[in-house]
Amino acid sequence: RTPSTPDGNPEMADAAPGPLDRPSEPPLIRREDYRPFDWLVPEIRLDFTLGLERTLVVATLKVERNPNGEPASEIRLNGDGLTPLDVTVDGHASNSWRMEGSDLLVDLPGDAHEIRFATEIAPVANSQLMGLYASNGMLCTQCEAEGFRRITFFPDRPDVLSTYTVRMEGPKDAFPVLLSNGNRIAAGGGEDGTHWAEWHDPWPKPSYLFALVAGDLVARKDRFTTMSGREVDLAIWVRAEDLDRTGHAMESLIKSMKWDEQVFGREYDLDQFNIVAVGDFNMGAMENKGLNVFNTKYVLADPETATDGDYDGIEGVIAHEYFHNWSGNRVTCRDWFQLSLKEGFTVLRDQLFSQDMQGEAVKRIEDVRLLRSVQFPEDSGPLAHPIRPDSFREIGNFYTSTVYNKGAEVIRMMRTMAGPERFREGTDLYFGRHDGEAATCEDFIRAMEDGAGLDLAQFRLWYSQAGTPKVEVSLAHEGEAATLTLRQTVPVTPGQPDKQPMPIPLRLALLDRETGRHNGEQLIVLDKPEQVHRFEGFAAKPVLSVNRGFSAPVAIERVIDSDDLVFLAKNDDDAFARYEAMQELIVGHLVAVVEGGLDERVQDAARSSIAEVMRVIVTDAALDDSMRGELMMLPGQTYIAEQLTVADPGAIHAAREALKGWLAKSLEMELVALHERASGISSGMDRAARGARKVKTQALVFLAAGNPELAERMAAAQYDAADTMTDRQGALMVLAGLAGPQRTHKLIDFYNRFQGDALVIDKWFSLQAGSLHPHVIEHVHALAQHPDFNIKNPNRVRSLYMAFTGTPLGFHAADGEGYRMIADLILALDPINASTAARFVPPLGRWRRIEPGRAALMRGELERIAAHADLSRDTFEQVTRSLG
Ligand code: PHE
Ligand code: ZN
Repeated sequence: RTPSTPDGNPEMADAAPGPLDRPSEPPLIRREDYRPFDWLVPEIRLDFTLGLERTLVVATLKVERNPNGEPASEIRLNGDGLTPLDVTVDGHASNSWRMEGSDLLVDLPGDAHEIRFATEIAPVANSQLMGLYASNGMLCTQCEAEGFRRITFFPDRPDVLSTYTVRMEGPKDAFPVLLSNGNRIAAGGGEDGTHWAEWHDPWPKPSYLFALVAGDLVARKDRFTTMSGREVDLAIWVRAEDLDRTGHAMESLIKSMKWDEQVFGREYDLDQFNIVAVGDFNMGAMENKGLNVFNTKYVLADPETATDGDYDGIEGVIAHEYFHNWSGNRVTCRDWFQLSLKEGFTVLRDQLFSQDMQGEAVKRIEDVRLLRSVQFPEDSGPLAHPIRPDSFREIGNFYTSTVYNKGAEVIRMMRTMAGPERFREGTDLYFGRHDGEAATCEDFIRAMEDGAGLDLAQFRLWYSQAGTPKVEVSLAHEGEAATLTLRQTVPVTPGQPDKQPMPIPLRLALLDRETGRHNGEQLIVLDKPEQVHRFEGFAAKPVLSVNRGFSAPVAIERVIDSDDLVFLAKNDDDAFARYEAMQELIVGHLVAVVEGGLDERVQDAARSSIAEVMRVIVTDAALDDSMRGELMMLPGQTYIAEQLTVADPGAIHAAREALKGWLAKSLEMELVALHERASGISSGMDRAARGARKVKTQALVFLAAGNPELAERMAAAQYDAADTMTDRQGALMVLAGLAGPQRTHKLIDFYNRFQGDALVIDKWFSLQAGSLHPHVIEHVHALAQHPDFNIKNPNRVRSLYMAFTGTPLGFHAADGEGYRMIADLILALDPINASTAARFVPPLGRWRRIEPGRAALMRGELERIAAHADLSRDTFEQVTRSLG
């Protein structure tokens, strides 16, 4: 490709390549290649003339030489699919610029200049939902990570911080509300039906935090007085018909603001805080400074349309985005390799918040379940990467569970080692030292060392080594002493053949076999390949409770009798450890069944002992229902597969269903009684009512596997009596997996009842697509033809196909039809929405860990995708890594 020449050249229009125009492989970007940018851009002004079909953007940049950069004679401004119009430098039309690929290079002779240019964009044609796009007649932006360059030319990297002034103008009827970051400083109207607003954000920020929204929206408003007495106007903007579903989001926001003051000493710093809900969004939500943009899924809720899980999701995501105001915005990232600096830390902050709101034990169990079902498989597969990656082709592929959830676990370990008070001193130092800066993970670690008084020299390995460490645990007893042996290995991962031992903080306790009590908990940091610890004063062998609270994100492999697991599942005073013992007991059994060769009697004995513990869990009057619901949950399909070197999804499913059936038959009376008791607890949002709803559906899930006719009757009755979406969805989920007539009746009723309500219709799609029904593939084929299916809406695409990738009988159908369906989706979606398309690659990438027949089929589909010439960078990178 020849470098192009300035305006006026007839070849100009061809010069800027489209986003997918890729002559060769997209380049690999390396962390070690980081250099500061040669220029500073202290100020930017953006003038928007808004229209759905066409929006004009005039950008004015004040630039100065960066004393820390190289002396350069030009500035490189990133663009993506843009053509520059009317370039001026210091007020004069300029000819001294050129395009290089999609970037604009402008010659700059002096030390400080003002550059101005215009760009024109077509929001309605923007199906990628990155940059400025249209959704439901409104305009909104998404800039993280590299969407700003689809709006205007700019050094689109997080270490260039600027003060933004934004003026926007547009038709008043189409866009009565005009929002951007910061504070609104002026507004006015013209006679021609247009109006305008000007916003100023006093806090310097990187381009990825820019946002603009224009649309016909209404707001739920409230106020918050900060700890130093600042009055903040809060507003949550939605379409008029959604206004009465914003109460929970507003409550969550106010609680978050208060909590961040109390727990982290962080105060809000603008006069306004706006949240906008949008129905077309690639992710959950976005923390743009003072103007968070949310997927409607994480804003709108009322008991009829949102489940208890949805309520918790909203509370957690509202908190997450709000907390970014400090961990992400006031202190941002130097480069995208540091993503976990803001995401891992902010996830930890939202987890701690939710623990305080909802109760620690249940929230911890939920977080660990998510980590093990999504992050562990990532860490043991072809896409494994450290929480601070070393290279990428497309940063969008690194918004992963590893960066987010393992990142949170790594910071949580620091907190566990330091204790909450010293941890707070560390975070205070971090925020104080780096306020207004673009920082690195290393900066965070150093602040923790200095502020929290930790030595993290070896701990830094958690940032550079991928893979879930394995810790082997055994306890011996002789005379009066118990001897604990701990051994760690960090598995080989792509590009990392040699691993070093890492510091692994393990909370543990030794329980007396008679009383179930212990003399206090200890924290042992395993930082060598092997360690032995002696505990005196035990006349009888105690029962070891280890990795309590899941103090380290590792896989524990312990030599332990199933009697001891039964003991822990019944008695452990650490809620997580109790849950863990139950999971281990069940996983141990299922793995043994799948591996085969077990005689029927041994299998039945194991099932009986699991049923015995389950009976205690189902009937224990001292347990609250929320916790009971957690303890009743069987380990998921992927977590079980993780325990096997090579998994057969069909065999795992069969073993899991057989156990469910056994439990249902052994405990039918107890499960029916539990359902009945829980049904008598009045509806409401309090803990007791929520717990009751959880165990109700859990009971049905088991019964469905043992006595489908009974389960069908009970589920239909629960559906009919439902006064919350939690009960209704739970019942329908169970029915969707059954063959009886109620399945169709209730699916039709549900659709008719909620037709037109996008978030609920999403549930209708996922319930069918994620079901255990043997004909799930046919159902998904039919749903893809349903008039409500829309490949351009990410929520709808995910509701149909993401749910499907979790089905053992659908996605993993032995003839490969499920794999083909997902590959077809990736190919169809890639040109429309690359970042969403690429998110469907990882399920196919698990082939190495799956039995050879299916593995070949999965690989075949990846190869079929890879053979396409014009794949997006996103999909190209994920597919090649998955094959690699
Ligand atoms: N930064 C967002 C968050 O975690 C996630 C996001 C990334 C949203 C990229 C949109 C695009 O809060
Ligand atoms: Zn985040």
